[in-house]
Amino acid sequence: MSATQPTLTDLIDLRGKRALVTGATKGIGAATARRLAEAGAHVTVADLDPNGRSTSDALVADGLSASYVTCDITDAEQLRDAVAAAADGERLDVLVNNAGIFPTTGPIDDVTDAFVSRMLDVNLRAQYSASRDAARLMTHGGAIVNIASIAGIRGGANITAYSASKAGVMGLTRAFANELGPRGIRVNAIAPGVIDTPGVQDQMAPLKAGGMDIEKVIAGNPLRVAGQPDHIARVALFLASDLAAFVTGHVLVVDGGYTA
Ligand SMILES: NC(=O)c1ccc[n+]([C@@H]2O[C@H](COP(=O)([O-])OP(=O)(O)OC[C@H]3O[C@@H](n4cnc5c(N)ncnc54)[C@H](O)[C@@H]3O)[C@@H](O)[C@H]2O)c1
Repeated sequence: MSATQPTLTDLIDLRGKRALVTGATKGIGAATARRLAEAGAHVTVADLDPNGRSTSDALVADGLSASYVTCDITDAEQLRDAVAAAADGERLDVLVNNAGIFPTTGPIDDVTDAFVSRMLDVNLRAQYSASRDAARLMTHGGAIVNIASIAGIRGGANITAYSASKAGVMGLTRAFANELGPRGIRVNAIAPGVIDTPGVQDQMAPLKAGGMDIEKVIAGNPLRVAGQPDHIARVALFLASDLAAFVTGHVLVVDGGYTA
């Protein structure tokens, strides 16, 4: 390595940077907020669930820098306020578009248009709006990390609206990478496989009640490892950091090999 090359520590160092993570009360968002804060960023946790304050309080209690803002990402004004709060009159460096809702399972005729609209609004349209609002404040360049899903790659019966929303996130990621690249803003996505979060546990509760071995489903990948929120958080940190300085427009599958 030449003397002018940054060290490994420098590459992952987010000190002095400001980050916003949506949907960070629990699950993947909470784990991601923690990893970004550990790397030195000031992390703003945004969630419609006011318990999100517990995520930022826990980070602060551990000597990290974090704050909380109540925000429903589908509300334009709340979203703009959350982005502005995260930048705190200075600048924003990292946005993790994580907040999302899960599919109801059901056949095509049982899913209403209103449900499809709601799914697209939360999982796709709000990521668009958040990226646009955040990019305006990324005056020194920045990194946007969108949480997609392998459901946007493989599809799946009974989860059409969810699959469509996550495939849309991948399109959004590639298009914004092109549009925002000249401004020094990298835009990437992560496509997680099954990750053991409160959201997934809620989703699988009826199956569990029906006697299905949920833990086996969650670890049903070639690595035979149950996906954990921190598996995604580590990759989000990588994409947010200068380790990924030349990576943009990429969808990184993180699924223990499930789609391999
Ligand atoms: N867990 C998985 O297996 C998995 C797999 C692939 C993709 N994902 C994606 O990862 C992301 C996080 O999933 P998770 O499993 O951690 O979910 P989770 O349900 O455990 O947590 C989601 C968080 O988002 C918040 N949220 C939901 N709607 C919101 C809104 N309108 N405004 C603000 N906050 C909102 C919730 O309050 C919650 O705190 C989602 O986008 C999800 O689609 C999850």
